[in-house]
Amino acid sequence: MHKKIRIGVLVSGRGSNLQAIIDNIENGALSADIAVVISDQPDAYALERARKHNIPGVPVSAKGYKGKRDEYDALLVKELKKHNVELVVLAGFMRIITPTLLKAFPNRVMNIHPALLPSFPGLHVQKAAIEHGVKFSGCTVHFVDEGMDTGPIIIQAVVPILDNDTEDSLSARILKQEHKIYSRAIQLYAEGKLKVEGRHVIVTGGRASTDDHLINP
Ligand code: GAR
Repeated sequence: MHKKIRIGVLVSGRGSNLQAIIDNIENGALSADIAVVISDQPDAYALERARKHNIPGVPVSAKGYKGKRDEYDALLVKELKKHNVELVVLAGFMRIITPTLLKAFPNRVMNIHPALLPSFPGLHVQKAAIEHGVKFSGCTVHFVDEGMDTGPIIIQAVVPILDNDTEDSLSARILKQEHKIYSRAIQLYAEGKLKVEGRHVIVTGGRASTDDHLINP
């Protein structure tokens, strides 16, 4: 049994990645405690999901903080520290993070992105991948740095793009993999197996990424 780490999950929307993390903690696959779930959108369904599992769900509205990202992030830091968070997990958190948050949690902020970075950073990336005509896309868990979707990559999963895919069908296929690899990345962190060396994340004891799709599309 590994030491449980205390994670803080930041969300903006429906929170299916949050739910997968909760489920994996409850079924014993992930040695973590969710100390707090914070949302910039007070009506995010993800907050409901947290409360249903007796996890504090805290709205931190971004209203009034336009052009004051640092001040907003200082509120997040205060809330995360209050709950003794060790690792910050962005799960569909639709804001750009500033150095205020990153300095408070150096190499301790993770994000999940629904494409194979560095291809297709930003928003609406499933649609962009289909329009570009790539044959594979996927998802990426990475440590967050000061760029947008540019930090050191921890795990990727590859997903084929089918001829008749729509944005919705591809998003759903990618999401299934997101739900697997995010918990895997957090577990590797909890086990102390991730070491960041420049752009590289070294995984002690082997490769983190999955090629499950090659066996079972
Ligand atoms: C997920 O697909 C996640 O990868 C994406 O938002 C969705 C959130 O879904 N994140 C980003 O695009 C971040 N740039 P969820 O709320 O159901 O977890």
